[in-house]
Amino acid sequence: MIAAIAKNNVIGKNNQLIWNLPRDMKFFMDSTMNRHIIMGRKNFESIPNKYRPLKNRINIIVTRNKNYEANSCKVVSSVQEGLEYAKKNGEAECFIIGGGQIYKHALDLGLVDKMYLTHINSNFDGDTYFPDLNHTQWDSKVMFTNTADEKNPHDFKVVEYSKKLA
Ligand SMILES: NC(=O)c1ccc[n+]([C@@H]2O[C@H](COP(=O)([O-])OP(=O)(O)OC[C@H]3O[C@@H](n4cnc5c(N)ncnc54)[C@H](OP(=O)(O)O)[C@@H]3O)[C@@H](O)[C@H]2O)c1
Repeated sequence: MIAAIAKNNVIGKNNQLIWNLPRDMKFFMDSTMNRHIIMGRKNFESIPNKYRPLKNRINIIVTRNKNYEANSCKVVSSVQEGLEYAKKNGEAECFIIGGGQIYKHALDLGLVDKMYLTHINSNFDGDTYFPDLNHTQWDSKVMFTNTADEKNPHDFKVVEYSKKLA
């Protein structure tokens, strides 16, 4: 799973990202390059037309709509079906890229063993949230930090979380 989260757990507003942090966007792009990426239908539709499907990645869209179609994308009816598809294609690290409903669904079902979470040290006004995490279930390691500057105007840190063995 990969996500960028405000201090107050906000991840989006009006089906859009709220912040502009190129350094974090580059981390997302580099991490998911050539991977299978699983996303909710709303997240897919929030990506500007000219950027979707996200290039050099297998885009998998989760929807309950059996008739949903999107050019050059795989459409599935559950996150599990998306993971099965990626596995069948020999994927070693499939990414669940949101949004809020899909993050919650995947975590509730215990489908996630690793997370790359960007924690932004600011609060934002929004309407979509990352689910509450049970931190006792995860080991964490800070990968890098960003100090706010002109190009990336918020402090943030990127943390890798690994699920503890039961
Ligand atoms: N900060 C970040 O890292 C980040 C990352 C990604 C997205 N976002 C933000 O998150 C927001 C979108 O998130 P969201 O929560 O509104 O929507 P979402 O999770 O992207 O998509 C929700 C849709 O997924 C489908 N779905 C959900 N649960 C399902 C299930 N159990 N089985 C089958 N299909 C299921 C449904 O599609 P149908 O209605 O078609 O059936 C549902 O409407 C946007 O603001 C976006 O910018 C933020």
